[in-house]
Parts: sequence; structure tokens; C-alpha cells
Amino acid sequence: MAELSEVEAQASVCQRCRLASGRHTVVFGEGDPSASLMVVGEGPGRDEDLQGRPFVGRSGRLLDRLLSEEAGLKRDEVYIANVVKCRPPDNRDPLPDEIAECRPYLDAQVALVAPEVVITLGNFASRTLLDSGVGITRLRGKTYPWPGGGPSVVVPTFHPAAALRGGGEVLAAMRADFVRARQSLGQAQTRQVGGA
Ligand code: URA
Repeated sequence: MAELSEVEAQASVCQRCRLASGRHTVVFGEGDPSASLMVVGEGPGRDEDLQGRPFVGRSGRLLDRLLSEEAGLKRDEVYIANVVKCRPPDNRDPLPDEIAECRPYLDAQVALVAPEVVITLGNFASRTLLDSGVGITRLRGKTYPWPGGGPSVVVPTFHPAAALRGGGEVLAAMRADFVRARQSLGQAQTRQVGGA
């Protein structure tokens, strides 16, 4: 299998969809390439497009806080990526064909990092990775097996932007979901240590 750096090199010159024409930078993803926890967002915003790094704006600051306060992990201990790697114009929602064209990069990232737990942030990431038409409000609050099998579990939660807009209840739900993710990590480690 290719290495992350090779997949990133391919993505950095990607022309598979219309988002290529409006981007400054391909925001491939970053973090610990052998992280136990991976976080998947929707797509780069303005700050991310300019800096070439995921979640560096306001949503990113909230994500860093949730990781540290509820999952006990620093940003550089996890791997962070998005469903689409290029910024949609005016931060519009990514379109189905854009998500589909970008999907092989995300699949490669998940396969190569091989995390125990994947937190999906918001509707697009959660529905894409769980292959579900159900909205995030109903999806969240549970842990799901990775569709198609494999060692990872998926913990869907709201997007940090929703907590920044929506306030207390959304944030409280996100906190609970990040705790759920940490507990799932613990379970995976216990399973490994116990050999069961
Ligand atoms: N929102 C996302 O979904 N991803 C980012 O990288 C930044 C904001």
C-alpha cells in the first residue's frame, strides 16, 4: 500500500473535480500517522485553504479544546482530515460528486492510519463515512462499527461550527461524544492487552 506522503503528493495536484479551480491549497490532513484517534471534518474553510492545514480557524480551536478536555489528547496525537480536501466556494456544502471524487483520498488515509476510533464531525462526514442518509442529530450519541468491517469504530458528533452557532446544548452533546470516543479507545486497548 502507498504511504501517506505518496497519497498526499497525488492529492496536492488533484484536478478530479471543480473545487480544484478555486482553491489556494489542497488541505490533505495532518497529525500522527499512526494515531489511535482520527477526526474527519467536512472541508477546508478560508483559513484552512490559505494555510493548507485542517481546522486552524475558530472551529479548529474548539476542536482542540474538546480533544484535550474530553478525550485527553493533544492535537498532534490525533490525525485530522476532511471529506473534501479543497475549499468549496463561499463555504457552500460539498456536492455529492465532489465528495465521491475525493473519497479515495479519505479511504486511503483511514486505511493507512488505521485508527481505533474515527470521530466524524457534522452531517457530511458522518453520513459519508457511515454510508447513511440519517441526519447527525439522530446519528450521534452512539458508537458504530466501521461499515464493511475492520478494527475501527465511528463516533459521529456535531460539527464544531454548529456548537459555535448553537451554543450550550450542542456543545454538551459534543463533550459527551468526545468522552464516548475516549472510552471506545480504552476498550480497544483493553481488547488488545487482553488478547481477546
Ligand atoms: N471545517 C471543517 O469541516 N474542516 C476544516 O478543516 C475546517 C473547518
